[in-house]
Amino acid sequence: MKRKTISGQLVNASPKQKQLISLSQFIIEEQLKIPYASGEFSALLNHLVYAAKIVGREVRKAGLLDGILGSTEDTNVQGETQMKLDQYADNAFNNSLKICGHLCVLASEEHEEVIQIPEGYAIGKYTMAIDPLDGSSNIDTNVSIGTIFSIHQRLDPGSKAPGEHKDLLQKGSKQICAGYIIYGSSTMLVLTTGKGVTGFTLDPSLGEFLLSHPSMKTPEKGDIYSANEGNAGYWSPEVQNYISHIKSIEGGKKPKTGRYIGSLVADVHRNLLKGGIFLYPNDTKSSKYPNGKLRLLYEAAPMALIAEQAGGMAVTVKGERVLDLQPTELHERTTLIIGSKNEVEEFLKFIPKK
Ligand code: AHG
Ligand code: MN
Ligand code: MN
Repeated sequence: MKRKTISGQLVNASPKQKQLISLSQFIIEEQLKIPYASGEFSALLNHLVYAAKIVGREVRKAGLLDGILGSTEDTNVQGETQMKLDQYADNAFNNSLKICGHLCVLASEEHEEVIQIPEGYAIGKYTMAIDPLDGSSNIDTNVSIGTIFSIHQRLDPGSKAPGEHKDLLQKGSKQICAGYIIYGSSTMLVLTTGKGVTGFTLDPSLGEFLLSHPSMKTPEKGDIYSANEGNAGYWSPEVQNYISHIKSIEGGKKPKTGRYIGSLVADVHRNLLKGGIFLYPNDTKSSKYPNGKLRLLYEAAPMALIAEQAGGMAVTVKGERVLDLQPTELHERTTLIIGSKNEVEEFLKFIPKK
């Protein structure tokens, strides 16, 4: 149906309503496709999403409430100052997840040791590793932050015993689900269960995540590069050579565009949508991050699964596939080079062949 505006132009009388599928509906429909699915995994995701909505709500009100912005007196296991929102998000996710009945053990960036399921609560067949609040340095300045999660099935899915370290220390390639929540200009949840990547946007009026980005694919090439170049002097000659190459204007070449937020979730999300490469190499000339800064279990591995499932790649500075790395410690760090296929392959040309 057409109607006229005051200026006489014809416009569609009613804007076409997108067909809106909620995350809950999506999860149920996906579950129905798997014969004999028990619904446990769907229930686990629902608990995660519930906590994400609580954290998202506090992030939106951060400047208005006491106790959300600013740092605490505490440092976490990695010697980093904990922000109030780090602790708030950690509590929100842990409190919802550890009693949900579907996890056997949990690991969080904010806890040195694994978090066990409290007595009296059911022990499930999944493990989760979580970065409750990613991008802490951006909290107080209203810049996008996020949450990252990684889910594995425990080594013996039939066991009802408490989960152990070894249940968490599995390769990224064995993740059955990985994803992130970005608290940005809107709140989005992006996840994969190994069959592509799907994005949902929170409709604050409904309090529901709605399917907004079905079958996300990252561009095969991209012009953006993202790295904390303040550290360039610490990087290996190979990484420095690659960065000089992509910035070079020799022969009329167009250099890449630098974009760096300092929140892994926000940097990777932008590059996933627009195409490009994110690098967090190791320090070769200082003792601060000799193995890289990002944590394998709850930062690099889940982001690597998302990247690969969207058609991109994720490798270390040595050219190893991140998803093939065997973790040996809960909080171990790794280097991460992640992004569009062409860009990561170009980076690999600068790495000496073994
Ligand atoms: P977190 O806030 O969970 O500790 O993670 C911070 C990480 C990551 O989000 C980001 O990519 C990186 O630190 C930024 O590090 P620099 O400040 O060294 O650039
Ligand atoms: Mn982080
Ligand atoms: Mn964090």
